[in-house]
Amino acid sequence: MAMIAHKCKGHTVTVVDINQARIDAWNSEELPIFEPGLDEIVKGCRGKTLFFSTDIDTAIREADIIFMSVNTPTKTYGVGAGRAADLRYIEKCARKIAEVAEDDKIVVEKSTLPVRTAESIKRILESNSKGRKFQVLSNPEFLAEGTAVADLENPDRVLIGGDQTPDGLAAIQKLVDVYAEWVPAENILTTNVWSSELSKLTANAFLAQRISSINAISALCEATGANVDEVAHAIGTDSRIGPKFLKSSVGFGGSCFQKDILNLVYLCDHFGVPEAATYWNGVIEMNDFQKHRFARRVVSTMFNTVSDKKIAVLGFAFKKDTNDTRESAAIYICKDLLDEQANVAIYDPKVPEAQMRRDLGLSESDTSITVCADAYEATKDAHAVLILTEWDEFTALDFKKIHDHMNLPAFLFDGRNLLDLDALRKIGFEASGIGRG
Ligand code: UDX
Repeated sequence: MAMIAHKCKGHTVTVVDINQARIDAWNSEELPIFEPGLDEIVKGCRGKTLFFSTDIDTAIREADIIFMSVNTPTKTYGVGAGRAADLRYIEKCARKIAEVAEDDKIVVEKSTLPVRTAESIKRILESNSKGRKFQVLSNPEFLAEGTAVADLENPDRVLIGGDQTPDGLAAIQKLVDVYAEWVPAENILTTNVWSSELSKLTANAFLAQRISSINAISALCEATGANVDEVAHAIGTDSRIGPKFLKSSVGFGGSCFQKDILNLVYLCDHFGVPEAATYWNGVIEMNDFQKHRFARRVVSTMFNTVSDKKIAVLGFAFKKDTNDTRESAAIYICKDLLDEQANVAIYDPKVPEAQMRRDLGLSESDTSITVCADAYEATKDAHAVLILTEWDEFTALDFKKIHDHMNLPAFLFDGRNLLDLDALRKIGFEASGIGRG
């Protein structure tokens, strides 16, 4: 929404939420999320074309286009628990719009939703229409965290799905006109609603599948002496495969991949294609395997015990340049190490201590982890260093200094293949990466 406000000076964008603290944070000097470049954009148009408020009713009444951007977590209860998307916030949002709107509205699904959700939203709106007309569009978001501003500024494509009726097509055109202020026409794709909804789940499933595929090969590389980065490079030069998203790692995290694949799996089952459900579920199983495999390798390399040993974990975010830790592989690896009674010392440049403790289910006073102010403090007297997020600053660390204040043998496990293992071995580290036999 900040990017729309930034690019379309003729429009007013009002972001509303029931959470007063969140809105206050968006109106303050310190924005509630860290995303490179976002501060400048928000502060540049806040109070001019971009407003943050808790006055939801007024915002609904005044808007021509309403983007529904509420969260759709995986259901934790009832039918589809653990797989289906929980749509209660979406439904509440649609009912609120129906209750408050005084004239015709275009309602845009921005949240990632199961296929055919637009139909449910439309029915809720229409059964309370009182003569007003609602058009429901699907406009999934493809930005990635850490590069959100660049992705929004220059998207590979914008996807807009809507009814293929005269009113539906007119609504699609209205939203096309918004994006056309900065996105080239050929990058704005229009489809029917269901294709648009399904494309988002499919894109995330394909991306995650590439990571699980290369991670599956990484395990084989370790057993055979091949180097997974060399394999990824060799296959990525095939123009049909392409070089991106082939970086083997401790496993993918983030708020989208696992949730969207689980949702896809549920939909495949629901629509009677259990074979497709099993196929996509394999992507998640491989990711779980990769996370636990890494932790197991740490333990087995360190003479089968990490009990009472200090393990330094560098990086807790699910990727660099974000403070987001949702589904971060680091959470699972730290939990495995804590189960083995290790003392885990964590440093991440952006993730606050309280968030790490919440993610690990630890109280403020629990001493099984210590959260450190920098990498040197975390590694002091440690038996091993684990690189779990590919923060740029880790490549600039003085590893000689780190080695000299660690317990020997000093183990280093690079879960992101970020560092030069040969150079580390020359310093004296027992260094290993992912997929390097
Ligand atoms: C993803 C999609 O990329 C984006 O299009 C969608 O809108 C939301 O979900 P995001 O989760 O923000 O974006 O980050 P992404 O860059 O896709 O990384 C996801 C995870 O995969 C991270 O944990 C990352 O470290 C990991 N990853 C990514 C790899 O392990 N290897 C890779 O080659 C790429």
